Parts: sequence; C-alpha cells; structure tokens
Amino acid sequence: MKPKEILVFGASGQIGRHLLRKLSRQNFKITVVTRNLHRKAYILKSQANAGWLNIVELSSFDYEKLNKLFENKDICINLIGILHKQNKNSFKNIHTLLPKQLAIVAKKNNLKQFIHVSALGVENASNSEYALSKLNGENEVKKVFDNYVILKPSLVYSVDDNFTTMMMKLLKLLPAFPIYYEGKTVFYPIHVTDMCEIIEKIILNEIIMDTVECIGPEKMTFKEIIEKIIRSLEIRRFLIPMPLFIARQIASFFEIFMKKPLITNDQLNLLKHNNQPSGKYKTNKQLGLNQSLKSFDREINKYSFVWKEGGEFSQKKN
Ligand SMILES: NC(=O)c1ccc[n+]([C@@H]2O[C@H](COP(=O)([O-])OP(=O)(O)OC[C@H]3O[C@@H](n4cnc5c(N)ncnc54)[C@H](OP(=O)(O)O)[C@@H]3O)[C@@H](O)[C@H]2O)c1
Repeated sequence: MKPKEILVFGASGQIGRHLLRKLSRQNFKITVVTRNLHRKAYILKSQANAGWLNIVELSSFDYEKLNKLFENKDICINLIGILHKQNKNSFKNIHTLLPKQLAIVAKKNNLKQFIHVSALGVENASNSEYALSKLNGENEVKKVFDNYVILKPSLVYSVDDNFTTMMMKLLKLLPAFPIYYEGKTVFYPIHVTDMCEIIEKIILNEIIMDTVECIGPEKMTFKEIIEKIIRSLEIRRFLIPMPLFIARQIASFFEIFMKKPLITNDQLNLLKHNNQPSGKYKTNKQLGLNQSLKSFDREINKYSFVWKEGGEFSQKKN
C-alpha cells in the first residue's frame, strides 16, 4: 500500500519535532515546511530516517506556491503559532488568515484531512488578541473545508518547551517570583508526547469534522504549577502576588525592549481566563485518544536537574 503523504507546517517547533519522530515510525512520508532551511534543517533532519522526510523552504505563503506543495498530499497538519506579534507577523495573519489559506488549498487538492492546532480556552478571552485570532482561525477553517480536525491543547510541556524550561531558568535566578491574578488561573498541562499521540490517532482513525479539546490528567492552578516546578528544583522561593497595574507596566517595558518579551499585555489578558475544557467539544480523555496520560510532576523531574545545583550529578539514583 502507498504510504500516506503528510505535509507539516511549523514542524520545527516543540510539538512538530516530537510529531515527526512519531509519524515517521508509522511509515508516513512527511514533507515539512520551514521559513529558514539554513537554521532549521539540522533540527528537522535528525527527527526521521532518511527517505521519509523532505524539507521545503518557503518564506511567503502565496497561493501558487502552496498549491504546488499540496499536490499529491493526503494530510496537512498546521502547527504554526506565535506568542507575541512582530511587524508583519500579526496574530490575525498567523492564526486566522494563514490557516484559512491552507484550508482553501487543502480543499482544492482534495486532501483527506486538514489538522489544525488552535488553543484551549480561547472562547472566553475576547480581550486577548491571541485568543481572538485563534478562535477566528478555527471558524475560518471550519467554514472552508469539511475534512478539518481542530485540536485545542492546554499548556503543552516538555524538555523542549518555552514555558516550564523558562520558568526553571527564572526560578533558579530570582529569589522571588511574581504571580498574576493570585495564581488562580486553571490549566490542564499535557505532555508533548501525549499531544502527538492524539494527532497520530486522529490520522490512523481517519477522523474528520471534529474539534477536540486536548488536556492532561491533572487540573492545576498557575500557582500550583510554579510550586511544583520549585519543588522539582529543590529550592525555596517567595511567590509574590503582582498587582495588575504594575504587571502591565513591566509587560509594556518588556514589549519595548525585548525581542521575545517574558510577558506581554496580551498574555496578561489571556491569563485572566481559565484554560479549561469548554464543554462544547469532547476532550481527548472522553474520546479515548490516549492509552495513558503522563503526570506533570514525574515528567518535569526528568529534566529539571539541568537547572539544579550539581546538574546531572544532582539526579537521585534508583
Ligand atoms: N506549546 C503550547 O503550550 C501550546 C498551547 C496551546 C496551543 N499551542 C499551539 O500549538 C501549535 C504548535 O505549538 P508549538 O509549541 O510547537 O509552537 P512553537 O514551538 O512556537 O513552533 C511554532 C512553529 O511555527 C512556525 N512559525 C512561527 N512563526 C511563523 C511565521 N511567522 N510564519 C511561518 N511559520 C512560523 C515556526 O516554524 P519555522 O521557524 O520552521 O518556520 C515554528 O516551528 C501552535 O499553533 C501553538 O499556538 C501550543
């Protein structure tokens, strides 16, 4: 039987890198699209065996170029996303217009599935540009192409993420750490391998016309997440509730002076809303898409040693 041809956008990111390893083991032929072959080829090439992975550089997503790429493909997976806007990379362009464009070309080329990764909890956060653009993107994809699957993950974490690893770095450095909205915002962190298992099942079970809210096994507040990371690092830190007006000033400062701000005003708006299942869609748990789900404490302990006193020698022997 001819192997399925899968086209992946945003494959060099956290989810993409883990997904390539999983999909290439299923003998799917994968084409990944990156904006910068020179910077990303090394990281992409090492994720799959030669012959199963083809890398294409594309800096602009115009219709003709995309159309050529989509020819003879069976499935497209869109993992492109940004956390802060920059010049031409507005939230609207990246989270709304680009998925719409990809869905149009997927439909034109009769793809069997268009799997689009959005985000959990964006329905209620209408004062966040990020959330609004993600929600509009979902609606555009649904309008354009019936063979869609929309995945809405809560916080996705792993040794390759931008969140837990950044928190570990900061907590190691700072004696006190700010928490916003008293740290009460709720999350359901999901490990990246569990997220990739969901995508694999969606492909193997040929699911279409569905939206899935992707969550980990435990409900945690922001404060609980930070406390778990602190415990894992075996340190003591003060958690200081940060008044919103001060947090906003700091965020504005970061936005002006940092290329990748530690926190933005838009993220402060987003953080006000719980990141939890809406009840409108089924979750991965309800659909039985994972064999088991990984525990946050156990997984972060596997890599927190990097930031501990003694590094790898701080690991406890079993
Ligand atoms: N990680 C989470 O906690 C989380 C939670 C909820 C939802 N999500 C969503 O899940 C998806 C994947 O997340 P991730 O954590 O794997 O993301 P990531 O590590 O930040 O990677 C995102 C990818 O998007 C591509 N990209 C970024 N800006 C782009 C632009 N302007 N034009 C074209 N491509 C661009 C990059 O590819 P190249 O540089 O190779 O072009 C990069 O590999 C995203 O849509 C994200 O919003 C993630």
